[in-house]
Amino acid sequence: MSPAIDYGEKIPNNVDLAGDRRLQRALESWQPNFLQWWKEMGPVVPTRDVYLRTAVDVGRDGWAHFAHVPMDQYRWGIFLAERRGDRRIAFGAHQGEPAWQQVPGEYRAELRRLLVVQGDTEPASVEQQRRLGLTAPSLYDLRNLFQVNVEEGRHLWAMVYLLHAHFGREGREEAEELLHRNSGSAEAPRILGAFNEETPDWLSFFMFTYFTDRDGKYQLGTLKESAFDPLARTCDFMLKEEAHHMFVGTTGVDRVVERTARLMVEHDTDDVGPHGGIPLDVIQKYLNFHYSVSLDLFGGETSTNVANYYTAGLKGRWGEEGRDDDHRLTDATIEVDALGEDGTVGRVEAPALVGLNTDLRRQYIADCEKGVARWNRVLEQAGVTGRLRLPSVAFNRRVGAFAAVEATPDGRVVGADEFERCKDAWLPTGADREHVRSLMQPVYEEGRIASWLAPPKQGIDGKPFAFDYVHLA
Ligand SMILES: [Fe+2]
Ligand SMILES: [Fe+2]
Repeated sequence: MSPAIDYGEKIPNNVDLAGDRRLQRALESWQPNFLQWWKEMGPVVPTRDVYLRTAVDVGRDGWAHFAHVPMDQYRWGIFLAERRGDRRIAFGAHQGEPAWQQVPGEYRAELRRLLVVQGDTEPASVEQQRRLGLTAPSLYDLRNLFQVNVEEGRHLWAMVYLLHAHFGREGREEAEELLHRNSGSAEAPRILGAFNEETPDWLSFFMFTYFTDRDGKYQLGTLKESAFDPLARTCDFMLKEEAHHMFVGTTGVDRVVERTARLMVEHDTDDVGPHGGIPLDVIQKYLNFHYSVSLDLFGGETSTNVANYYTAGLKGRWGEEGRDDDHRLTDATIEVDALGEDGTVGRVEAPALVGLNTDLRRQYIADCEKGVARWNRVLEQAGVTGRLRLPSVAFNRRVGAFAAVEATPDGRVVGADEFERCKDAWLPTGADREHVRSLMQPVYEEGRIASWLAPPKQGIDGKPFAFDYVHLA
C-alpha cells in the first residue's frame, strides 16, 4: 500500500477510502457531527489561523507540513502506518500466526471496548483544555496548545475509523457516543475519571501533557503490538504525533523550573510568588498531584482482564518484540507493589500475566524519572539547591493496592488524621491554585512572554520564538 495521503478527498486518508463507498459515506456522515462538536467543545479563543503541522506522509521522512491554517479547516484524516506484509503476532496464545486484518468474532466485544476507552480520552482532553487559550503565556505556547488539540481531534478520527470499518452498526453507534459524552458532564461524563477534570491553568497543562499524555503514550504502545493489524498501524502513527505532546510537557515544565530558579537566584529567596513566579514547592505539589492521578490510569497492580487481553493477542507489552523472554509468560512471575501485612509499602510475587499493569506502570515510572532528572539539572545549573522528585507509588492513590490507605510522598503509610494535617505540604492548596491562576494573564504579543515562564530555546519548524504563530480573530 502506498503511504501517500490523498488530500483530494473530503476525508484525507491513506486507506483508500474511495475504494469502499459504504465506509466513505458512513464517515462522511459522521464528519459534520465531529465539526459541530469541535465548534461547541473545542478551543474557545477565536482565531483567524494558526501555524499548524499537518501529516502529509506516514513514512520516515517529511511526514509533516507546516502552514498557517484556520483551525476548523484543519485536515483531520485517517492515517495508518505502513503495512508490514508479513507481520506475525509477537506474543500470547496466537504467537507466530499472521496478524489479523479482520476482527476475529471471539474478540469482537473486547476489541471494541478497548477502542472506545482509548477513543474517549482523545476528545476529552480537547474539552478539558478548551479555555486555556484565554490565558496563554505566549503565542508560541498558544500555537502548541492548538497543535495538541487538533491532533487529539485526529486521534478521535483514528479510533472512529476503526469502529466504522470493522464493527458494523455497533461501531457506528459507539462513534456517535464518543461525541455525546463530554468531559465533566453530569449526565454523560467521559469514561475515565482523570478525563473529567478541567485543566484550569498552564502549569496543570504542562503537567498534564508530561504525566497524563505520557500514560496515553504507554497505552498506545501496548495497542501498537496488537494482533489486530489495523489497530497496531493506527497506534504506530498516533505515537509519532504523541511525541510532540510529550515535547510540550517536558519543555513546558523545563521552562517553568528555569524561570523559577532564575527568580530564586535573582531575588535570593524561595518565595518567588511576589516576583511573578511559581515557587518550587508549588511545582512539586502539582507534580505530586498529576503523577499520582496518572499512576491510577494504569489500573490495579494485578488484573485478570489484562492477562486475558495479552494471551488473546489484543494488547502487548511496551517494547514487546525487544523483550528477551518467551512472550507467553505462562510460567513467569513478577513482584507487584502491595500493602504488606505490617501496613508498609512492599511487594509480593504474582504471575507475570496478571501483573502486566504493574509492568507497564514501571516502564512509565522509569520514563517519568528522566523528566525529573532533567528538571533537576536545570535547577543545578542555575545554582539552586532544591530538587524535584517523584512521590512514592503509594502516595495519593485512588486505584489499586494503596487505594484504601494514605501514604506520605516518602511512602510511609499514615492514618487519615495525619494525612489531613500534612496534606497542604504535599498537594496544591486552594491558595497555591489561586496564586497560579493569578499569574495566568494572556500574552498575545509576538516575542513576549508571561512572568512565570522562560522562553523556549527555539521556535517551531525552525522559526524564531518571536513569530506570528497565531492570528487571533
Ligand atoms: Fe491522543
Ligand atoms: Fe496526546
